[in-house]
Amino acid sequence: MLSTMLLDQDFVATVIAPKQEVIKAGVWRCPICTYDNEDSMSECDICGVLRNPLVKFSGNSNRTAANFKRLSSLDMPSSEREKNILIESELGAEGPNSSSASLGRDGRSVVKGRETASDSGSKPEILNSSMSSVSLSSKSRTENANEDKDKSNLQYKPESWMMPDQAEGRLSQLNLAIVGHVDSGKSTLSGRLLHLLGRISQKEMHKYEKEAKQQGKGSFAYAWALDESAEERERGITMTVAVAFFNSKKYHVVLLDSPGHRDFVPNMISGATQADAAILVVDASVGSFEAGLDAIGGQTREHAQLIRSFGVDQIIVVVNKMDVVEYSQERFDMIKQKLGTFLRSCGFKDSSVLWIPVSAMENQNLVATPSDTRLFTWFHGPCLLDAIDSLQLPARDYSKPLLMPICDIIKSQSQGQVSACGKLETGAIRTGSKVLVMPSRVVATVRSMERDSQVCSIARAGDNVTVNLQGIEGNRVTAGGVLCHPDFLVHVANQLELKILVLDVTVPILIGSQLELHVHHAKEAARVVKILSLLDPKTGKVTKKSPRCILAKQNAVVEVVLQGSVCVEEYAKSRALGRVSLRSSGRTVAVGLVSQIMKTQD
Ligand code: GTP
Ligand code: MG
Repeated sequence: MLSTMLLDQDFVATVIAPKQEVIKAGVWRCPICTYDNEDSMSECDICGVLRNPLVKFSGNSNRTAANFKRLSSLDMPSSEREKNILIESELGAEGPNSSSASLGRDGRSVVKGRETASDSGSKPEILNSSMSSVSLSSKSRTENANEDKDKSNLQYKPESWMMPDQAEGRLSQLNLAIVGHVDSGKSTLSGRLLHLLGRISQKEMHKYEKEAKQQGKGSFAYAWALDESAEERERGITMTVAVAFFNSKKYHVVLLDSPGHRDFVPNMISGATQADAAILVVDASVGSFEAGLDAIGGQTREHAQLIRSFGVDQIIVVVNKMDVVEYSQERFDMIKQKLGTFLRSCGFKDSSVLWIPVSAMENQNLVATPSDTRLFTWFHGPCLLDAIDSLQLPARDYSKPLLMPICDIIKSQSQGQVSACGKLETGAIRTGSKVLVMPSRVVATVRSMERDSQVCSIARAGDNVTVNLQGIEGNRVTAGGVLCHPDFLVHVANQLELKILVLDVTVPILIGSQLELHVHHAKEAARVVKILSLLDPKTGKVTKKSPRCILAKQNAVVEVVLQGSVCVEEYAKSRALGRVSLRSSGRTVAVGLVSQIMKTQD
């Protein structure tokens, strides 16, 4: 047993050994363009990529690109800005199946992924433990290594403008992640919805159809509205999260169309951490639904586990491509029964899961009741748009100090401006507000803001915005960082105690295991230094102290040391900044929360 464990440990360590960035004294090699820069340079002299972005983690050689693309056709503000922007690549590596980034000619990031995904396996198993039991059983110790010096003496009082004004008459924002197995039709569905709701004009649609046909990809015409890069279009897969929006009767819906390919799960995570609710798209075709639920590389499975661990508890399961199965009720019921069992095991309540059969391709049951008799004879539920309107908004923390994890940076080279994009998790900001940019600890002023390409003067918890900052150098703002209130600093830590639920893995987690820690938009290499205890999944009580390893489906408390520091909070203080997932060899191996911050940067 021991020798097997040591072998596994070696294997894990070998697979994700940290990459050496410094290749010779006084020089560091740019991971994107491979130019050797002088040590004094904080960003690459050739391509401008940051040397030490917060978002970095170990890996063999490949790196992931910026997680997000704000759609130029739907979301980008002005053509002038388009010419100038440079979306900072998020410099992280993913292990053997990862993607790499380069900057395209237009200055936007282009992701280079591997052609095929190779799966490291685990046997099909149903996850018994409820993730909610992990995520709800957090109690941080009172004896905390990390005293809240900055915060303890200050009582935060929100100003009146920070609270939403009903008279403003604007629709509440619902951040909706579109997740699911590769090729299930997420982008096609998103493109169709945007077209049906007038966000893509007929002219634009004709253009997509024509171009897609010319490249022999006629069936991807709707997906092209979301898959903008040449590589995405050529390969017919989404690589980065596409952000678009539309208005329903009740909500201003921000769609986060995620990649389904397993190589791009880190990008999917970055989108899903912003979600208030999710649409889980499954492909009804025979064999495809089953592939998505397969324990080896099934992304229906991994995505469902991940979104639940990020606190998303309401989902709409869209059973897509019903046209392929002749709108069969029998097939729909079978999918509902099988996937329903799995979702229950992830901690989703039956009452929070809606099941909608659709065909994105044939426009059935998207924004109106179905017209195909094979569907409307047996399905009498809401169409997708009505289902979206039936979702409940999670409570927003307007009255807490500002916290906005940064998912992307936009630099305007010509004007020397820097903007941070992300969703406000708590608090509010307005033009002229002072914000503290972490982990740089530099105070900047909000020069202007944009929500959905429109200038806005106030942003509040739940809003997805681009914040143009004044009084700060571009290299001090990093994806994976956080904007916070100058008097209420977010913690920057490199040693954490975590409560985790191990997923269906075959390789146990051991002391010394090398993993990738994901927390909001930050990623960092993590080493397990202590396994403190195993927990009863139902009661949260300690069942065993100092076990040698953690197996699949076990709940445990571990201590991890990070290679670099991340902006993080204890889960009890901030859910959004205290939820983590742990990955290894391109798979999510555990999800959990930060129960204690052990060591901060200072
Ligand atoms: P990734 O983002 O790479 O995970 O893929 P995706 O889930 O976004 O799938 P995408 O929208 O790119 O569609 C994949 C393929 O499925 C395309 O060829 C689509 O035309 C096809 N497709 C999508 N929806 C439907 C549908 O309702 N019926 C049929 N028959 N095909 C569909
Ligand atoms: Mg897609």
